[in-house]
Amino acid sequence: MKPLWKIEPTASLGSPFEPGARHDVVVVGAGLTGLSTAVMLARKGLDVAVIDAGEVGELTTGANTGKLTLLQGQTLAGIRRHHPIGLVRAYVDANRAGMQWLTEFADDAGVGYTRCTDHTYAQAPGGLDAVRAQHFAAREAGLATRILPPAELPEAPFPIVGAVALEDQVMIDPMLVAQALARELLASGGALHTGIRATGAHALPEPRVETPVGPLFARHILLATGTPIIDRGLYFAKTRGLRSYCVAFRVPGDVLEGTFISVDGPNRSLRPISNADGPAAAAQLIVGGNGHPVGRSDGETAAIEDLVAWTREYFPDAEEIRRWSAQDYESHNLIPFVGAMPRGLGRIRFATGYAKWGLSNAPAAALRLTAEILGTDRHDRPRWMTAIGTRLTMPADIARGTAEGGRVAAAAASGWSRAESRSVPVPRPAEGSGVVANRAGLPVAVSTVGSVTRAVSAVCTHLGGVLDWNDAECTWDCPLHASRFAPDGTRIEGPALKDLKLLPREGS
Ligand SMILES: Cc1cc2nc3c(=O)[nH]c(=O)nc-3n(C[C@H](O)[C@H](O)[C@H](O)COP(=O)(O)OP(=O)(O)OC[C@H]3O[C@@H](n4cnc5c(N)ncnc54)[C@H](O)[C@@H]3O)c2cc1C
Ligand code: FES
Repeated sequence: MKPLWKIEPTASLGSPFEPGARHDVVVVGAGLTGLSTAVMLARKGLDVAVIDAGEVGELTTGANTGKLTLLQGQTLAGIRRHHPIGLVRAYVDANRAGMQWLTEFADDAGVGYTRCTDHTYAQAPGGLDAVRAQHFAAREAGLATRILPPAELPEAPFPIVGAVALEDQVMIDPMLVAQALARELLASGGALHTGIRATGAHALPEPRVETPVGPLFARHILLATGTPIIDRGLYFAKTRGLRSYCVAFRVPGDVLEGTFISVDGPNRSLRPISNADGPAAAAQLIVGGNGHPVGRSDGETAAIEDLVAWTREYFPDAEEIRRWSAQDYESHNLIPFVGAMPRGLGRIRFATGYAKWGLSNAPAAALRLTAEILGTDRHDRPRWMTAIGTRLTMPADIARGTAEGGRVAAAAASGWSRAESRSVPVPRPAEGSGVVANRAGLPVAVSTVGSVTRAVSAVCTHLGGVLDWNDAECTWDCPLHASRFAPDGTRIEGPALKDLKLLPREGS
């Protein structure tokens, strides 16, 4: 379960950590958001330090499909359905600015990419209305999309009955981008500390980020951690974490012209690979899809096997090279949350909610965060920054939030009742599997991975959700707000900050 972009060992980049060091800005998270903001600020002469619990591009940044596009599936139609066109325009303008920044950065850094036509397509006639809705929203927002007439539909071995196309979009290797950003940060004198987890962020008595090896002090803090790691503002409840899957294949011959994402089920995203935009010697096609809210799946391995079976049906000679999974966060109105954290005294900022379109949304967020941190006069900021920053909550957004709240409540209740229905001791789980059982009224999570059977608390350290076993990645995933933990209880990602308690195996 490692992304194709990490098929070659990546250089471990970083600089020595000095506990108590002071910087202008401390960024938590060395993904696209954190690194692009850090580079923008360093270019303005600020002293910036980035810390990450893992390596550069550890989580979603290092695992995405590498499509940098303004078309973005059905996103524009989704925003337009309940919002004025001005908001869709601001969203598109923000993403255009993000895309331009990223491609200019790639040009300067020597990171290759390919220009291509991106398609949002229907697999069956029932999807044609959704294709048209995306086209109309995109046109209203100023994008030169085209509904393809039947004679111009791309030649593809899988079903396409209609498509909207946008030319001049981009395919790029996201890991090469992240590493080039990290190298520029280091070359400009910035600090990068990998393998160090932030355990807290505080605005008072002076802004600081806590880590197990000592604090870092700063005038400004940016939480670029996918979802914020502190709960002020309750953003964990205003977004949902969606996990989805990618498989890379070796495919002989010509693969596909352009990139594709379907509007109808089963959800499919396709992206060819050439030497200019990825490790084409290893694989020539990525097929993604089958996403679901984190921790709420009937079987993660089954979701991947389904992608493989679908690909073999339409590309019979495809040979699987890599499979992986990652998660991103979606806000209830599809507009990212970017800016100052409530009660952070204007010193703690964050960005989240790119809904799987972070290659342009992350640098767009970075442009906004940079303007805020530098104190750029509002009148000197591009119009989209103000328009997208003025949050409109429509009844439909509230309804979607309420519906998600209901699903979270249901997941919370069913997790506890499932745990109560089975008591310890439980038989040793088979290799690669995990079970939750009740030990003296508390859910315990027992798993066997690498022949080691471990018991940990099955109660999420964020707000007490009962965890669910992810059989593809061998992790404990929270169905409430998307935190994830390793079999030994180590926190991997999400709003939870603490590890799960390791419990004695006896009695499980
Ligand atoms: C399957 C999939 C495919 C996608 N494909 C595309 C695509 O084709 N095009 C596109 O535009 N977008 C795509 N996306 C979305 C895109 O990858 C993300 O929106 C983007 O990478 C988010 O970047 P980020 O920096 O905000 O978060 P991340 O990349 O997740 O970075 C967060 C970082 O914070 C670190 N961190 C977290 N907690 C702590 C802590 N406590 N202490 C220290 N460090 C911490 C993590 O280790 C991580 O490195 C896809 C997403 C998924 C899930
Ligand atoms: S992530 Fe919130 S309870 Fe688990």
